Amino acid sequence: MWPKTHLIDLLGIEHPIIQAPMAGSTTVELAAAVSNAGGIGSMGYSETSVETIREDAEKIRKLTDKPFNLNFFAHDTPVSKADVIESTRERLSPFYAQAGLSEIPRDVSKPLLTFTEEKLELLLEIKPPLVSFHFGLPESSAIELLKSAGCRILCSATTTAEAIALELAGVDLIVAQGWEAGGHRGSFDVNHEDHGIGIMALVPQIADAVNIPLIAAGGIADGRGIAAAFMLGACGVQMGTAFLSCPEASVSDVHLEAIRNAKDDDTRLTRAFSGRPARARRNNYIESMAVCRDPLPDFPTMYSLSGPLMATSGETLDFRFLLYGQAAALNREMPAAELVQTLVTEARNLL
Ligand SMILES: Cc1cc2nc3c(=O)[nH]c(=O)nc-3n(C[C@H](O)[C@H](O)[C@H](O)COP(=O)(O)O)c2cc1C
Repeated sequence: MWPKTHLIDLLGIEHPIIQAPMAGSTTVELAAAVSNAGGIGSMGYSETSVETIREDAEKIRKLTDKPFNLNFFAHDTPVSKADVIESTRERLSPFYAQAGLSEIPRDVSKPLLTFTEEKLELLLEIKPPLVSFHFGLPESSAIELLKSAGCRILCSATTTAEAIALELAGVDLIVAQGWEAGGHRGSFDVNHEDHGIGIMALVPQIADAVNIPLIAAGGIADGRGIAAAFMLGACGVQMGTAFLSCPEASVSDVHLEAIRNAKDDDTRLTRAFSGRPARARRNNYIESMAVCRDPLPDFPTMYSLSGPLMATSGETLDFRFLLYGQAAALNREMPAAELVQTLVTEARNLL
């Protein structure tokens, strides 16, 4: 029934639906439920320890014998620029005062914990069927090793140029991530102006430019979005926000309530929490920080400065980093397996 079968053939799955990796919100139960339902379940990892990732993979393999995806942030080692850190501390001082906090951290340096040598070694040992990256790729030697271990490699692109670079680097699959998407932009270089290409313009242009399977992501919430993605040239979709309303996801009550009340215009891109652009629910902190475009500390160093504010947010939206995309209002609250089945039925009817 699917007009293009590149993704399902490559991974040996039934439905071309990838549940997006979402660091902090994905659980082994969610990933396994989606894989068991015929899609691909994913785990998103930020600074998660090697031990936890190993345990997660063992748990997923107990829950399903179907393919799954482990995802990592691949980015440059953050550089601590003293003047940027100092000016950011000054900008944050009114927010710290508002939150009743006195001490703005001074030592914000962070070691690179996202995609480390130890994590690569673990992946070569446990050999997940699919390994995906965000913010670009790690070194080419890592990609070669993972591919020779039998892992398929997937990476997000936010422009056609990024997609072409990924194909040249030897990835197996590309996710075209549109501006509508919840969570961090997958852009490789955050220092250039992001012109925010929407999925409608991005997918067909990447489809014309590369010869590897293309997956559409961003604002896809139901069968209409899936059918449209195929019409635009994709052979599958990656959906994040839609799966946040599944009981298997790890989502706070405040986050879930924000999604329940979501409107198309209540998110925006912000660097104010992590140092990298991410689509999140707007609040006073995000709006105020957007007024000034001075540089902020590199990802993920900025978390050291925003972390104490986030910890004070309680039940309010203030200082909350609630990631979701522009189509959150279309979310349905149902178990992940039921959501996959619903999406497949809706898309099938349209296609
Ligand atoms: C809460 C949340 C967390 C995310 N975390 C990750 C992540 O850890 N790794 C990643 O590659 N993408 C991450 N993303 C982006 C997704 O891969 C995908 O591009 C996005 O969810 C698609 O847009 P949608 O949310 O409108 O479906 C995240 C998205 C959300 C909503």
